[in-house]
Amino acid sequence: MAQVSLKDVTKVYDGDVLAVEQADFQIPDESFTVLVGPSGCGKSTMLRMIAGLEEITAGDIYIDDERINDIPPKDRDIAMVFQNYALYPHMTVYKNMAFGLKLRKYPKAEIDERVKEAAEILSISHLLNRKPKHLSGGERQRVAVGRAIVRHPKVFLFDEPLSNLDAKLRVQMRMEISRLHDRLNATIVYVTHDQVEAMTMGDQIVVLNEGKIQQIADPGTLYHKPANQFVGGFIGTPPMNFIETQIVNNGDTPALRFENFKVELNAQLQSALNTLSGDSVTLGIRPEDIHVGENGTSNSKFQLENRVETQVELVEPLGNHALLYLRTEQNNFVAQSDLINVPQHNAQVTVSFNMDKAHLFHPETGESLTAPSCQ
Ligand SMILES: Nc1ncnc2c1ncn2[C@@H]1O[C@H](COP(=O)(O)OP(=O)(O)O)[C@@H](O)[C@H]1O
Ligand SMILES: [Mg+2]
Repeated sequence: MAQVSLKDVTKVYDGDVLAVEQADFQIPDESFTVLVGPSGCGKSTMLRMIAGLEEITAGDIYIDDERINDIPPKDRDIAMVFQNYALYPHMTVYKNMAFGLKLRKYPKAEIDERVKEAAEILSISHLLNRKPKHLSGGERQRVAVGRAIVRHPKVFLFDEPLSNLDAKLRVQMRMEISRLHDRLNATIVYVTHDQVEAMTMGDQIVVLNEGKIQQIADPGTLYHKPANQFVGGFIGTPPMNFIETQIVNNGDTPALRFENFKVELNAQLQSALNTLSGDSVTLGIRPEDIHVGENGTSNSKFQLENRVETQVELVEPLGNHALLYLRTEQNNFVAQSDLINVPQHNAQVTVSFNMDKAHLFHPETGESLTAPSCQ
């Protein structure tokens, strides 16, 4: 297996579409690296440059110590699985999987051995004589992965391979691909727009927006220490709440004010404000860190000062908890409630913010003041 390095890689299409801007990072040997971001942010472009299917406008890509910019795709020792897996309809599963090796003139016995081995890994040995039209969506997806496995590549590239599957099958295939990674000890680069897929599968996650890398981290760090407002809002469902606040004096220490509510800051948040020159800051707080207490009154475990009176716009029961869509005069936010005392639609409830879990972001750049930057 192998390590892939991108050094200041940029891609400009047709002279003016900046699809990837100075991507500079490493995909460690045997890692499961996920590229995630909204549609159009440059994920596929980045993957296709690694595969050699797209020319690199500037920068270099290495596999281990070898610069591969000018190496044709077929010689890169990389196998790619696409969203649209396009099996050859007239060929059996066996032949679909064998095809790439046959083109490369592998001996028949070796092809046979590799196809059977891959089929076993993917639990499709019983399907080898079937044609694609007699397979389910999940089975076809496995065949597409099998075509990649038989190549014994240094690096696997997956481009949204589960998007065409229904929700249940997606969860199952997610597990299967993770297991495959453990079994093959493969270096995998996996593209998805789905942050849940990214969080559940990746050990290194690269968050992209508008062609730019926003943060590279493990799932826990992305969730708890988002480097900027984009990552805070993109990772986690429902997303982090953001409130524009004013910094005010609270005796000797700064506090935050929005509308007629005052929010106190712990020492760490106070010192995070030191880098700011203006008097406004964006407060970020996740739904589970907004506490709704019994009968809609706030539990005393959070500070009294951090209470906010709201009106319930919508209650979304989700089985083990409920989501409350809350409104103040000028802000909307979502809180997570346990199911013991779920307030009713239109009820007035007082909530409190657990400021030990709060984030602060620069009001203009969106950079986090509470988590160190990613790069
Ligand atoms: N062949 C192309 N020619 C021109 N622009 C392209 C081409 N392919 C992609 N783009 C543009 O580059 C940007 C990134 O696209 P892409 O890498 O496909 O995004 P993603 O896979 O994250 O959805 C988008 O703005 C897209 O419209
Ligand atoms: Mg894409």
